[in-house]
Amino acid sequence: MAKSTGKKAAAKKGAAKKVATKAAAPKKGAAKKAAAKSAAPKKGAAKKVATKAVAPKKGAAKKVATKAAAPKKAAAKKVAAKKAAFKSAAPKKLAVRSKPTVINDEALLQELFLDHLKDIYWAEKSLTKALPKMRKAATSPELQQIFEQHLTVTEGQIGRLEQVFELLGKKAQGKKCDAMEGLSKETESVISDTPKGSKTRDVGLIIAAQKVEHYEIASYGGLATLAAVMGMSEAKELLGQTLAEEKEADQLLTQLAESNINQEAAEEGEEGGSGESESEDDKSMDADEVGEGEETSKA
Ligand SMILES: [Fe+2]
Repeated sequence: MAKSTGKKAAAKKGAAKKVATKAAAPKKGAAKKAAAKSAAPKKGAAKKVATKAVAPKKGAAKKVATKAAAPKKAAAKKVAAKKAAFKSAAPKKLAVRSKPTVINDEALLQELFLDHLKDIYWAEKSLTKALPKMRKAATSPELQQIFEQHLTVTEGQIGRLEQVFELLGKKAQGKKCDAMEGLSKETESVISDTPKGSKTRDVGLIIAAQKVEHYEIASYGGLATLAAVMGMSEAKELLGQTLAEEKEADQLLTQLAESNINQEAAEEGEEGGSGESESEDDKSMDADEVGEGEETSKA
């Protein structure tokens, strides 16, 4: 009895396994199909999503490009409009000048001429105080000589300016020149920032002096032209003489810079610099000594 009972139990177990296998098999297949079904639409959907996502971006990029191009076109139109306005405005300005206001313009021009005359008069007088300091601070004898000679030349130029004041029937008077005051401060900085006895200081002084010369060339050039326009031939001649002297001084400084001073200064730099630091005497070229107050009458 016990054996037959055991066989029956074994048969039951085997049947149960088969049932379990059958029941399990469709499930696996179904799971694959289900997975395939669920996966398939996802890929398609992803493509669609991707397509949708790409498509608007392209469209958006075009829109952005169109938007970016639009202001450029608008800006170009504005520029074109401004140019057209400028062209149309130019002849109008010329037309205004041709109106019969010549007498008033001449009075204004003479006032302007006198104003610039006072400016350069103040500048030249301040230079007569700066040049001895520059000569003392210079290292090379050639540069010292240029500064010394230009002091004498400058005194002659002041004399010519006084003649021009006289031609105008005006008292020789200076008006503070902000440009020359600034240039003098730069020269002062060159002296305090460079070692005494160095060629580096000379290079700095040459540049500072040439800045002064160029300011004077611009001033005398403008004044000489203005004198010619106003029919003041004698004043034009006097101012023209000074203009030539300023150009000559500028050329002398250029020649000196191109000779050997720049090279020597470069070698000085390679050696780590030379010379002593500046003395109190060298630093003393301040604005009070260079300048002469707001208004300066003929000395
Ligand atoms: Fe001068």
